[in-house]
Amino acid sequence: MLVINTVLSVMAYDYPPEKLSVYVSDDGRSNLTFYALVEAASFSKHWIPYCKKFKVEPRSPAAYLSSGPESVGTFDSAALLAIKKLYKEMENRVEGTTKLGTISGDLATQEGFSQWDSQATSGNNQAIVKILIDGRDSNAVDIEGTVLPTLVYVAREKRPQYPNNFKAGAMNALIRVSSEISNAPFILNVDCDMYSNSSDSVRDALCFFMDEESGHEISYVQYPQNFRNLLRSNIYGDYIKIINEVEFPGFGEAMFVGTGCFHRRESLCGRKYSKSYKEHYQYRSERNPQESAVVLEERAKSLVSCTYENNTGWGKDMGMMYGCPVEDAITGLSIQCKGWKSIYFNPPMEAFLGISPTALGQFLVQHKRWSEGLFKIFLSKYCPFLYGHGKIKLKVQMAYALYLLWAPLSLPMLYYVVVPSLCLLKGIPLFPKISSSWFLPFAYVVAATQSYSLGECLWCGETLGSWWNMQRMRVMRRTTSYLFGLVDTVLQQLGFGSSGFVITAKVTDDEALQRYAAGSMEFGSSSPMFTILATVALLNLVCFVGGVAGVVAVVGGGAGGGMVSQMALQVLLCGLLVFGSIPIYQGLFFRKDKGALPTALAVQAAFLAALACLVPLR
Ligand SMILES: *[C@@H]1O[C@H](CO)[C@@H](O)[C@H](O)[C@H]1NC(C)=O
Repeated sequence: MLVINTVLSVMAYDYPPEKLSVYVSDDGRSNLTFYALVEAASFSKHWIPYCKKFKVEPRSPAAYLSSGPESVGTFDSAALLAIKKLYKEMENRVEGTTKLGTISGDLATQEGFSQWDSQATSGNNQAIVKILIDGRDSNAVDIEGTVLPTLVYVAREKRPQYPNNFKAGAMNALIRVSSEISNAPFILNVDCDMYSNSSDSVRDALCFFMDEESGHEISYVQYPQNFRNLLRSNIYGDYIKIINEVEFPGFGEAMFVGTGCFHRRESLCGRKYSKSYKEHYQYRSERNPQESAVVLEERAKSLVSCTYENNTGWGKDMGMMYGCPVEDAITGLSIQCKGWKSIYFNPPMEAFLGISPTALGQFLVQHKRWSEGLFKIFLSKYCPFLYGHGKIKLKVQMAYALYLLWAPLSLPMLYYVVVPSLCLLKGIPLFPKISSSWFLPFAYVVAATQSYSLGECLWCGETLGSWWNMQRMRVMRRTTSYLFGLVDTVLQQLGFGSSGFVITAKVTDDEALQRYAAGSMEFGSSSPMFTILATVALLNLVCFVGGVAGVVAVVGGGAGGGMVSQMALQVLLCGLLVFGSIPIYQGLFFRKDKGALPTALAVQAAFLAALACLVPLR
């Protein structure tokens, strides 16, 4: 349902349907996904005319129907009831079939479904390209007789002995299939969980591309990523808003983030920008109307075979780049280095809405993958300072570095959460006394960075609580995700092991979702990342209690306020870390639900923290 709501939302764009084609890449090659799309195709015959007649927003049926359209619209309630009924029926069929796990009855023997044979497993299968709605076909019309957009299902060939290049490989397969079937000059790519929340997005993006003065220089128009399931309390301290409202507008160009982005097909396919460039693409309406869809499908299939890309530029200087878990960033960078301009466009009405992880583990794994991929880019020949030198502005090179250097930030953070606290416990002062003038630069740095980040948050409409969560999560991300990202990158550079692409699951069970909605952090499992978090939390608790007791004892013994002044910054730092770790203590000691931290992990963390406290320091 998630996928077909996205599909329906983009099929219903306010744009001439004969110029719109939607391609769905199903890398899992599931006949259930195919079935859901067949359902979506028939539902679209009702949904699209409904949207256009009543100027519906947003055009994801699920989002629209759950937004309470009854209470706002002035329109026909009979039509609303009818569309709701159709949607519910479709939902029941799709969910019923998903529960069953197989396609039953007549459908199974229908054309299309027969391509799923019992031998094919995910990862070892033939290609499937199936045109579900053929926009050329005069029968492909909605209930009002208007043409429908083309809808195509694509599952590329996969064989264990050939690298599949993950999302980048799938995207490139789609680019080729679409060039055979519709060959439109502009491509929008969206993740399956990210529906279009604004029916104007295509027209908006085209305003940039069609601009008479500078349109021909523009390669892509990137919309920001927005999430529909973030809570106002923001427990995972997501700072996407800061990125969208402050960092990306100041980037100078747009960083391609892999979803919600309109591309000029030619630039994505490797073309260099030149001053004489003039749009020479024609929308291919001159396709041979006699040619049957089956012939077209067969030709398209040959473009998504495992061997098609051998000895071609795909993945190197055409399409999405290969060899990096964050292929989007390199793809965008390499397009910019070919002379194209890019636009970051953040309209007031959020245009694309995805989902963000609701469990801490997923969240941290996602950041691990990003930080690792981004750091690899920095160490590769694509490092913006080398690759982009003389091609893109220094400012843009530096803006990229802001993200590419996430992983190494883990080291200073790890130092600051461990060493000053341990020193506090042992009574070793690290920072200048409050009374000393050397204290001033420290105080300045702390006050300036924190007040800047607070100002930034409030300016973006975040709350004070949300800001605190961001600070807390920054520590957690850097000590876990970024640390693992760094370690993995270094190991791989030295030739050990290769990185697996860990997909973040977007579906969590209902109980966990309730706990998330109630604002508690979802741990729920053992993970080396949680061990680090718990160890650091316990270590700081011991150091804080022990350290403060030590200071009090000295002061009590009459040895003076010098000690207080000497240790003040360390007490403050350690205290803040303890305060920020409250959800971890809760997960370790107080919670009984499934989202708590496992006991075995607590024991492990306590052992490690005790060991660290016993290390002699001087
Ligand atoms: C999505 O679109 C609706 C309807 O246009 C709008 O009210 C809303 O602000 C948009 N954004 C979100 C996050 O729902």
